[in-house]
Amino acid sequence: MGPANDIPLPSRLRDLIARQPAGHCLLGEFYSDEELYQLDCQRVWRTGWLFAGHSCEILNPGDYFTLQVDTDSIIVTRDKNGQARALHNVCRHRGSMICDAPEGQVKRLVCPYHRWTYDLDGTLLHAPGMQEDLDKSALGLKSTHIRETAGLIFISLASRPPDFEPAHDLLAALAKPQGFCRAKVAKAVDYLVKANWKLVWENNRECYHCNANHPQYIKANFDHYNADDATPRIREQMAAAISRSEAKWAASGLAVSHKQTGMTTFPDAERNIWYSANRTALVDGFVSESMDGAQVAPLMGDYADNDVGTLRMRTLPNFWNHSSCDHGVSTRLLPLGPELTAIRVWWLVDQAAVEGKDYDLGKLMPFWQLTSEQDWEICERQQRGVNSHAYVPGPYSSYKEYNVDAFIRWYLRQLR
Ligand code: FES
Ligand SMILES: [Fe+2]
Repeated sequence: MGPANDIPLPSRLRDLIARQPAGHCLLGEFYSDEELYQLDCQRVWRTGWLFAGHSCEILNPGDYFTLQVDTDSIIVTRDKNGQARALHNVCRHRGSMICDAPEGQVKRLVCPYHRWTYDLDGTLLHAPGMQEDLDKSALGLKSTHIRETAGLIFISLASRPPDFEPAHDLLAALAKPQGFCRAKVAKAVDYLVKANWKLVWENNRECYHCNANHPQYIKANFDHYNADDATPRIREQMAAAISRSEAKWAASGLAVSHKQTGMTTFPDAERNIWYSANRTALVDGFVSESMDGAQVAPLMGDYADNDVGTLRMRTLPNFWNHSSCDHGVSTRLLPLGPELTAIRVWWLVDQAAVEGKDYDLGKLMPFWQLTSEQDWEICERQQRGVNSHAYVPGPYSSYKEYNVDAFIRWYLRQLR
């Protein structure tokens, strides 16, 4: 993902990586070892681009939200010129955290300890009680890299982050019609999942578990069919749904970019591609990823018709989004420890939509709330299993777990 980290690997971890069997789940230490977790933080979380949140959460200057990447708290705000900023939430006086709240609105950032006061771009404005010759210009809040693309905000804690442009080009092109820049958060739910962040990704990268665990999800989507079990009838149904959609979408500039059963392939470990987006058809009778397939909010963005399938985006190591004609659902992972992951799920609707009149949380949320919570339970159960002394990595299905295998290969590549 990023420039190679030049700190040499401790030999114990080098041996662990060398022992990892190809085509199999990770060895147990990858999911629970503290030193390995620190390596993940260094080589994955402090190297790549992280999804932080949505532009609509910091619409006006002074709006901010905070997020915690392992030990590091970051303030994401908009300065008075409208520029999004990502600042380390660490006072340059004696290191106090500045913003405790998860979100808010401020004119300036004021440290609660001795009231050093910073502008929204991080510049130190006042340091009351300090000697006159204090060089304020050297004591601004440390900033991190930030990019806004199609209403999505990404940050990087790396000193030299990887090139963002290819991700920007793809996400901006596919997400533009969804209108995230003109959206609002209808609801966000935070979860603390007692599982290593990689177990959460592995779960996300296959639909092998969908039939047994996601009764609502499989009604709407084709992902759970694969090369071994997509019957001719299923293939015909999917081809028909796609060709109908393609004919209809051509006029509006939308395109089906995933036409096979099974999940689109991601990530591309060999080419180190950490971002992807596609649009795919929903099962007949579904215009939205809702419990009954019916629209649950007004059309979003540029959509003039509710038959737009689903837009799907994902970026490693911490973001995926499924969006229908009427709402989008974003998921963000943040690591808090070897066996703990903070997860936020957002439901977004058009900014003009009014709760109770245009949409109802009771109809908007269950599809992805159930699917997400079913997944968190699966991940926690797997964490408890892999912690056992009896655990040995089992083999992946080449029909159904090709993306999990690709994720593992991508991940191991980041560590080396
Ligand atoms: S630690 Fe922030 S003002 Fe002293
Ligand atoms: Fe799942």
